[in-house]
Amino acid sequence: MEFRRVRGMRDLVAGDAERARCVEEALVDAMRSYGYEEVRLPLLEASELFSRGVGEATDIVEKEMYTFLDRGGKQLSLRPEGTASCVRAGIEQGLFHRRSRRLWYAGPMFRYERPQKGRFRQFDQVGAEVFGVAGPEAEAELVQMVWSIWDRLGIADGIALEINTVGAGRSRQAFRDALVAFLAPRADALDADSRRRLDTNPLRILDSKVPSTRALLEGAPELHDFLDDLDKVHFDEMRRLLDELRMPYRVNPRLVRGLDYYTHTVFEWVTDGVGAQDAVCAGGRYDGLVESLGGRATPAAGFAIGVDRVVLLASETQGKIDYRPVDAYWVVLDRRFMGRALDMAQRLRDSVPGLRVRTDTAGGKPAAQFRRADESGARWALIVGEDEIARDRVSVKWLREEREQAMLPFEELGAALRTTC
Ligand code: HAM
Repeated sequence: MEFRRVRGMRDLVAGDAERARCVEEALVDAMRSYGYEEVRLPLLEASELFSRGVGEATDIVEKEMYTFLDRGGKQLSLRPEGTASCVRAGIEQGLFHRRSRRLWYAGPMFRYERPQKGRFRQFDQVGAEVFGVAGPEAEAELVQMVWSIWDRLGIADGIALEINTVGAGRSRQAFRDALVAFLAPRADALDADSRRRLDTNPLRILDSKVPSTRALLEGAPELHDFLDDLDKVHFDEMRRLLDELRMPYRVNPRLVRGLDYYTHTVFEWVTDGVGAQDAVCAGGRYDGLVESLGGRATPAAGFAIGVDRVVLLASETQGKIDYRPVDAYWVVLDRRFMGRALDMAQRLRDSVPGLRVRTDTAGGKPAAQFRRADESGARWALIVGEDEIARDRVSVKWLREEREQAMLPFEELGAALRTTC
């Protein structure tokens, strides 16, 4: 019997895991530099957390969750996203009392979607959530942080930001009623999915991709006409801040997002660099979620970045994820010198933090060791043999440059090798 990985799941090997790690590290650095604090949350939650949090009538809850009964008969789900868990943890751990919080998390999420390029059934997100800030400056700063991340990864040019407001409370209800009143008499012309949503989640019809439904929507009422003064002030102020920060964006009135908890601002960073899956990051404000999950009313906003898509984009658009598993490779010409080599390798790691140093412990003929050194991607082969030991030196062979081999005292080695990655 041959075991294969489950459909939609991936093994990250041959440098892919390291490249994902490089991206994650850049994301985490950004979170920290904005004063966010890490939380680690369970992969399993009660299914009801998501049906109440994300929304009963969303695709995620209706058809994408991995749900099962545990041995005690409890219905659990692998988390399809991080926001509901973060809010649940914040309420349960009393994080939201009388202070604002900035939290970040990273890890796998699970959705039973149709797998394709950039879309997996297990994928990684890095998310940030800010609690206790009601004004649009919260969203503006979140946007600023995400732009800084694209900049740092060198992929800002391939990504565009779309923003919208979905209003809040009364204005959204009024719009929903008007949309249903417009579509109900035309229900026959809607695609099957949209017809079903007319009762359950009419706002989601707005981002239907079906051409006939899109054509029908041309004459539909627009959410923007239903916004009240409060909604408008919030959105205008957010845009003013983005303009002041010179953050490029486009208002997309059709952007409604696939999760129900949003109020006011929603945003998405889109690209055509990852196949049909165009969003690399998405989020928005969700002022009602904490209360609806049993906490005290707390304004909140956040985003999640799809790490796998960012890795794809970064690898396809430029070579900034310059990953090399090994910088310096010790070639030991005689097994008698293995102890010395292992010792010097460790001292080299201590003296040049971050340097990736590997010693050839497999041994064998020098030619085989040099071949392995070359295959490892290392920039330098560091050679210990009879001659070197006798003269208390190490030979350096530059594997990627035309440069003459040199024999150096160990103490000068660190300075001669510069760190990469
Ligand atoms: P979301 O739009 O469902 O939002 O997911 C955020 C990002 O996760 C997407 O933009 C995409 O990059 C990535 N993603 C989603 N599904 C997949 C998949 N099947 N394969 C690969 N990548 C995927 C949320 O999850 C919200 N919790 C975001 C948020 C945080 N809103 C407020 N705070």
